[in-house]
Amino acid sequence: MFILSSNNSIANHFIAELRDVQIQKDAMRFRRNMERLGEVLAYEISKILVYEKTEVQSPLAIAETELLSNQPVLVTILRASLPFHQGFINVFDKAENAFIGAYRGKHRADEGFDVEMDYIASPDLTNKTVILIDPMLATGKSLLKSYQALLNHGKPNKLIIASAITAPEGLAYLQENIPDAEIFVGTVDKFLNEKYYIVPGLGDAGDLAFGLKL
Ligand code: URA
Repeated sequence: MFILSSNNSIANHFIAELRDVQIQKDAMRFRRNMERLGEVLAYEISKILVYEKTEVQSPLAIAETELLSNQPVLVTILRASLPFHQGFINVFDKAENAFIGAYRGKHRADEGFDVEMDYIASPDLTNKTVILIDPMLATGKSLLKSYQALLNHGKPNKLIIASAITAPEGLAYLQENIPDAEIFVGTVDKFLNEKYYIVPGLGDAGDLAFGLKL
């Protein structure tokens, strides 16, 4: 697992600003910090993809370089992921994209909840590299359910999960249920509270980016 905050970098400023209750009042800055974090994580992920020798004709001569053999497919879970996704598509600007509508259903009597899914738009994923993008990895249930639904669109040859803020419980759940996935995260927080919010986390990423919902 790759944890961006394990090393000091400017990305820790983006994460700090995302959490800061004063700075959170500026929704545009919140979205932009998510986007910047997405760009940095996308760059880190680009280092583990497959490249091939390529020649580029400059005005003066041929330059030899290594370029991506294939573009990844960027899969986003609506709606909180949109600014984070924007960061990924800024970097992987030729990538195909998939969108999933998944949300927490009513909390059950046992305090748990089911993940409801009502929308999926995806290209064929057969033998492709898929990056599953969700800024808040709390329980891991929506990510797992999204991945299972995506399998109806073909089996990827590589799955990468990208998240900004994560809880140890959700990471353990995904490592157990999708052991082949490579996981790239901004940071790992302390725990989930009784409402399954990440602590210290940042609150509700969708509301902070786009306003309250009913
Ligand atoms: N989704 C959020 O937006 N925040 C959390 O803490 C957990 C899930």
